[in-house]
Amino acid sequence: MTADVNDPAARARRMWGLADYSALADRLAPASEQLATTLPDPPGRVLDLAAGTGTLAVLAAGRGATVDAADLSPRMVELGRDRTHRLAVAWHEMDAEDLAFDDGAFDAVLSSFGMIFAPRPERVLEQVRRVLPPGGRLAFTAWTPAGFMGEMALRMREWLPQPAGAADPGEWGREEVVHGRLAEAGFTDVRVRPTSLPWHFDSGPAMTQFFRAHSPSHHAAAAALGDRADAMFAAIEQLGAPDGGPVRVDAEYLLVTATAAERTGR
Ligand SMILES: C[S@@+](CC[C@H](N)C(=O)[O-])C[C@H]1O[C@@H](n2cnc3c(N)ncnc32)[C@H](O)[C@@H]1O
Repeated sequence: MTADVNDPAARARRMWGLADYSALADRLAPASEQLATTLPDPPGRVLDLAAGTGTLAVLAAGRGATVDAADLSPRMVELGRDRTHRLAVAWHEMDAEDLAFDDGAFDAVLSSFGMIFAPRPERVLEQVRRVLPPGGRLAFTAWTPAGFMGEMALRMREWLPQPAGAADPGEWGREEVVHGRLAEAGFTDVRVRPTSLPWHFDSGPAMTQFFRAHSPSHHAAAAALGDRADAMFAAIEQLGAPDGGPVRVDAEYLLVTATAAERTGR
């Protein structure tokens, strides 16, 4: 048993450092490219939140932004620092629920499949709203529950339940939840665009091998389940390739953009 069993943040810091994430980051890169196009011109100071290895930070810096990249995982921050050492990117090992930046510090906050994993969405949004001035921009991506990644997460939860007290990241993929949370947190002009990444693999087993090698959550699930892991991965293969052929699925997600509203004195 590890020492962090009763500390969700410590568990998340360790979990997100597992596996060789770079190949999964490459597959997610089109979403970061899309997010980068939402930046204002000039982009000003930008926060890449839950930045992973910094795909979005690189793109924002390329558009002339001064970039801060924050991630909970020390391993991700280390990889991100190495990757961006020639660019104007400042890295921070930091929880999205507790951002150590001044009020109104950023012109834009972007998060590619990142902040959705924090267990308390209302705390993240309170922090994101605080570090933006009125008129500042938020843009993020979130897997939909009905898309392939959402379905896969649901299957995995049949083996490994969601930790008690943590919000389901899949809730971020429901349009009505997004509108409700962002309105409550002081955002306006909320736009939600469903889109998708095509996941293609030669076969179901090739797909699960990819996730076991490159996805921290699959890697952690395999370790936690031990000899029961094969049954979970067989169920995932069935989902991706029910007829036993190649995997051709859409990983559907929402692209969400919003503007920080004027303060109402609440
Ligand atoms: C699926 S990865 C996405 C990384 C990157 N944005 C990308 O598109 O490649 C999720 C990232 O969220 C980070 N993360 C999860 N919970 C977090 C939290 N509470 N605060 C900050 N980062 C967090 C993880 O460490 C991981 O790097």
